[in-house]
Amino acid sequence: MAAEKVLVLNATGKVGRNVCRALLEAEFEVYGMTRSASSPLESQGVTPVVGNYTLRADLDSAFKQTGAKKVFVITDYFRAAKSNSDVEFQQGRDAVDAAKAAGVDHLIFMSVADAECFDKHTKHLKAKVALEQYLRQSGVPFSILRPCAFFENLDDAANFNPLKKGVVKFLTMHNCKYCATYDIGRAAAIQLKNRQEWLGKSLDVIGWQGDLSEVAAAQSKVSGVPVKAKLAMPTFLRRLFLNDLHHMFLYYEVEKGPRGTPEAFKKILPEALSAEDWFRFHGRYANGEKIAS
Ligand SMILES: NC(=O)c1ccc[n+]([C@@H]2O[C@H](COP(=O)([O-])OP(=O)(O)OC[C@H]3O[C@@H](n4cnc5c(N)ncnc54)[C@H](OP(=O)(O)O)[C@@H]3O)[C@@H](O)[C@H]2O)c1
Repeated sequence: MAAEKVLVLNATGKVGRNVCRALLEAEFEVYGMTRSASSPLESQGVTPVVGNYTLRADLDSAFKQTGAKKVFVITDYFRAAKSNSDVEFQQGRDAVDAAKAAGVDHLIFMSVADAECFDKHTKHLKAKVALEQYLRQSGVPFSILRPCAFFENLDDAANFNPLKKGVVKFLTMHNCKYCATYDIGRAAAIQLKNRQEWLGKSLDVIGWQGDLSEVAAAQSKVSGVPVKAKLAMPTFLRRLFLNDLHHMFLYYEVEKGPRGTPEAFKKILPEALSAEDWFRFHGRYANGEKIAS
């Protein structure tokens, strides 16, 4: 039987590239949207579809070009929507409408765990809640994935947090729920392969939980060198300069959210990555040096 085609939006991002990887491993024929004519997608085995995933005309053309009836939808408040929830909503709505026009039979929407539970200062999650509602009444067959904090935040040079030998930094020292973006892809593959079981349902993607000293211990175990856990910035600066994210972390720190657990997620994906697994999977520090000793 021919492999089923899946179109992945924003395929070169932290989520997109690992979703593509997981879907390829699950034997889908993967098409990835990117604005770049020279992306690394092709060498990954993904067929690049050049276009901007936030533009309706480009989405229509991507569905037409590929003939994909399955799609992984990402929206992005901070980058593509330039920190405007109305713009993020409009971009997500265009993706849902384009999928409907193309006769998509399964749309996976990446939202955020407990998106509706954060306070009004956590502006970057507002559109996710509205888009889940829009999708539910759109008539497009869908499933929703609701990830917690990405392990990838621990190596995020674009946001001034490159992973270095002997130190791990994050915006909270407290117990936190993490997932690997690769597991978002593996969960998407499970939903796409078991369509009837997952239509209309959502799944919290939570692979592991621990405080930053436990993350450091995991990095130390993999690297064989002692690792210090440090705040990426003091909490008063987090409140001052990253107020939106500050309030998101308060939900993690004070409310102990999100409500989902790694145990529940592992009932669906038993091999979900722990912190130690993720450092092995990620493989390298930001400067390219191997993590494993
Ligand atoms: N960080 C977390 O812990 C976390 C947790 C849960 C959910 N999320 C969600 O994850 C999503 C972000 O995904 P991500 O981290 O994979 O994104 P990302 O890595 O920031 O995406 C980067 C890609 O976005 C594309 N891009 C950048 N600016 C753009 C623009 N103006 N217009 C169109 N495309 C643009 C570029 O692709 P090309 O140049 O190839 O086109 C670039 O490679 C957000 O919705 C966030 O809420 C994050």
